[in-house]
Amino acid sequence: MSQEYLICVDDEIMLLDSLKQELRQEQFFHELEIETVDSGEKALAIIHEIESDGDEVPIVISDQRMPNMTGDALFLELQKDRPHINKILLTGYSDLEAVVRLVNQNALYRYIEKPWDSHDLRLTIREAVLSYRHRKLIQLQNQKIEKITQAMVSCLENANFYYDEDTGHHIQRMAVLSEYIAGLAGCDEYFCEQIRLYAPLHDVGKVGIDKSILTKPGKLTEQEYKKIQEHVSIGARILGDSAIDQVAKNIVLYHHEKWNGTGYQNGLSGEDIPIEARIVSLADVFDALTSRRVYKPAYTVEDALRIVEKERGESFDPRLADLFLREIRCQDDLKRKIFDMSDL
Ligand SMILES: [Fe+2]
Repeated sequence: MSQEYLICVDDEIMLLDSLKQELRQEQFFHELEIETVDSGEKALAIIHEIESDGDEVPIVISDQRMPNMTGDALFLELQKDRPHINKILLTGYSDLEAVVRLVNQNALYRYIEKPWDSHDLRLTIREAVLSYRHRKLIQLQNQKIEKITQAMVSCLENANFYYDEDTGHHIQRMAVLSEYIAGLAGCDEYFCEQIRLYAPLHDVGKVGIDKSILTKPGKLTEQEYKKIQEHVSIGARILGDSAIDQVAKNIVLYHHEKWNGTGYQNGLSGEDIPIEARIVSLADVFDALTSRRVYKPAYTVEDALRIVEKERGESFDPRLADLFLREIRCQDDLKRKIFDMSDL
């Protein structure tokens, strides 16, 4: 288990000694290593050293007025790479400007006026340590939840892959394409990641469709086509009321809706179709067109793009289709990526 360090910075050694002694009076601080340094530069060096050893620095307490690097300069420097450290500034009567600067840059946990009240000082620092630990715990729990979600998505994806191998690699490619289109559409990084994570689930409901229909080489009868359409509602039932993100549910439920309202199974149109489903729909169709299937050969990228062009405003959101067409036609990298992935 890593050791927690409390770093105290002041050019007045006497003050550092008294600060250390005061903290030592309280049991809570006995489990923390308290390091004292007389300059901001030394503080940065020691923090680097501590972190390199795998230990942690939850708190840095610094005086404002020091030669060379002032307290606010130290905190602003720390804020760049270490926003997780709670920073406490020891200030004098006229240091308001520095406090304002730090508050505006979100680089201050608290400030303590000198001369400090001993009880207040210990209380503030104790709370800062507890708040650091609390934040860390939440972060670990979030990481755990993310891993569980990824594992669950991967299990469902594998179930789909073993059932319908033809679409297995298609799933991976369309997930990459979906994330790419989301980026083009200006979606934020988190949303793009969500789309890449959940896009592979779009056809999870196919496990409920007779395999002989899914892999039928010839033309489907009307009845068989209707049967295949049911994969949307089966997928929605598989995800059901689970705690899985709404983005995943929307992708499964609406990825066959069309911009002009003639898709299935809910007959939504335009922006009533959630954007994640509009994105996945475009990526899904484009990749299906450029892939070989038992019932059709692979189209060339140019032919597939012509179909996307024809379907803009019909099957596809015209804005997404335009962004996609423009980018894919001028980006050799993406084309190469698509061709590389078609060898999967
Ligand atoms: Fe589908």
